[in-house]
Amino acid sequence: MIKRYLERNHIKTRLYEVRYPFENIPSPDEYDYAGFGFPVHAFNAPLMFLRFLRVLPKTTHNKAFVFKTSGEPARLNAEASCSVCRILIKKGFDVVLDAHMLMPYNILFRYPDGLAKQMALYTDALSELLVTRLLNGERDAFRFNRLRRLISLIMRIEWFGAWLNGRLYTVNSQKCSRCLLCVKSCPSANITYDGRFHFGGRCAMCMRCVMYCPKDAIHFGILRPLRVNGGYNLDKLLSDPNVSADFVNDKTRGYFKSFRGFFRRADNTLAAYGLSVKGCAPQPVSDAPELYVFEACEESMHSQRQFLEEEDNSFI
Ligand SMILES: Cc1cc2nc3c(=O)[nH]c(=O)nc-3n(C[C@H](O)[C@H](O)[C@H](O)COP(=O)(O)O)c2cc1C
Ligand code: SF4
Ligand code: SF4
Repeated sequence: MIKRYLERNHIKTRLYEVRYPFENIPSPDEYDYAGFGFPVHAFNAPLMFLRFLRVLPKTTHNKAFVFKTSGEPARLNAEASCSVCRILIKKGFDVVLDAHMLMPYNILFRYPDGLAKQMALYTDALSELLVTRLLNGERDAFRFNRLRRLISLIMRIEWFGAWLNGRLYTVNSQKCSRCLLCVKSCPSANITYDGRFHFGGRCAMCMRCVMYCPKDAIHFGILRPLRVNGGYNLDKLLSDPNVSADFVNDKTRGYFKSFRGFFRRADNTLAAYGLSVKGCAPQPVSDAPELYVFEACEESMHSQRQFLEEEDNSFI
């Protein structure tokens, strides 16, 4: 989505997929901007993604933006950018923007089609906003909440869980058609096949093998009850007029009510830039307008230094 909006503004864009063993990494200095996107896993960036950032070459003048997707709108998810920004700033990047978007969960349970569509539409609009702000030369201030940061660091236990659970995956040979889609699609090259399937210790718990398997043949270790099989066909959902994207609205109660605040803040920020979510109604405004995470910062380099100092002096 971001690529599409960049190209609509005549900006040449190259996508690089982060896959082990991190080959042919483009040199950041050949580009004006580098964007770094990742899915939030247990309120953190996936370990594999942080490892990738660590092997990136240093840069002297490159600007960068960060964007992350999460399955639910909890603010704790925003903390996932902290380590990413820290590594990038230390590598010499001038990190200007940090955006948070939503994508339907690929674990725990399957989101209803209407919500998956609504999330995708908001993510599309927030991608347009990110590109607009990038082209405006805007900057975010980097402020992370200490308590939330501590919780997110504790949640890194998930890295150990991924290592452990990843070794326990098995393939049901009765169901498996040997298409090897799982082997080809695994971003951490964790699956090998020599007549039998082997799962190594590099699993990033991305769920890609499980979601892509056309035969639903992969058993997801001890976390099997949390499995969501089969990807969301977002292109189909977006073009299907029978799927309403007004899933979360002022009548929504229970767990999904938590999405209202995120969508409302996004509506307000988009409106401030003359943008809107195409294809679904804005959330009814019951509170005073509030700008979502984006706060312009005129002295970003100062704020980035301050952020690093605070991080280095912090006990976490
Ligand atoms: C192991 C794992 C942990 C996750 N942890 C979180 C989380 O802490 N918060 C959240 O909102 N979403 C979480 N998610 C959902 C992903 O962020 C969401 O599915 C992702 O942004 C969609 O991208 P992808 O499925 O294309 O990777 C998690 C997903 C996985 C697989
Ligand atoms: S993707 Fe599924 S069906 Fe294909 S080889 Fe892997 S386990 Fe077997
Ligand atoms: S969940 Fe599957 S595709 Fe993803 S890293 Fe683990 S083994 Fe590879």
